[in-house]
Amino acid sequence: MMETIKSFKMDYTQMIYIWRPAANKNAHTLLLLHGTGGDENDLIPLAAEFGSGFNILSLRGNVSEHGMPRFFKRLGMGIFDEKDLHSRTDEMVSFIKSLADKEDFDVTKIIALGYSNGANIAGSTLILYPTFLSGAILYRPMQPFKEISNDLKNDGQTPVFMSNGTDDPTIDRAATASFVKLLKNAGFDVESHELQTGHQLSQKDVQLSVDWYKRKFK
Ligand code: MLT
Repeated sequence: MMETIKSFKMDYTQMIYIWRPAANKNAHTLLLLHGTGGDENDLIPLAAEFGSGFNILSLRGNVSEHGMPRFFKRLGMGIFDEKDLHSRTDEMVSFIKSLADKEDFDVTKIIALGYSNGANIAGSTLILYPTFLSGAILYRPMQPFKEISNDLKNDGQTPVFMSNGTDDPTIDRAATASFVKLLKNAGFDVESHELQTGHQLSQKDVQLSVDWYKRKFK
């Protein structure tokens, strides 16, 4: 008898993750995305500042830069490999969709919380999948792609929180300002803060984003 060989198309790469379900099945999911050299454990204590009542999904980036995990490749400091960023964003979204079936969470209720490199893949998700996230917290983001189509549309006024540091040498403030403008023009509900600090997260970032989260999602 001929043996049937089953094949299936895998259009995502497995990612290492932490999953902590909330008691309530309808809860939002906080999607934690670490910075360069971090991992899935890094932002768990920060998530606790937002209270409870949400699922936590924390991912580890699949790219290694000299052993440091990242979510996509870069060509130099602040210079993104945009092709890789695009395909890693596709992979991450596919992975999350398949995980939503496995872990049984509502894929329409995901709020990304990313720092630095994690904020940049979250920003890329807003551009490439403008209706996928139901909210996003971006600490120290940059504009993820140099060219972004004028057709970008977000009719749902998805809330986006951003905070950057005035003394952050890694970020071009003019480019960040144009990214904010672009998201607003597309229909996102953006709240953006400039703090007198550097690239490191400060208590002020945490406080402002927790206040924002309570206003938008509680
Ligand atoms: C990036 O590569 O995403 C940014 O330069 C931020 C960083 O990871 O340092």
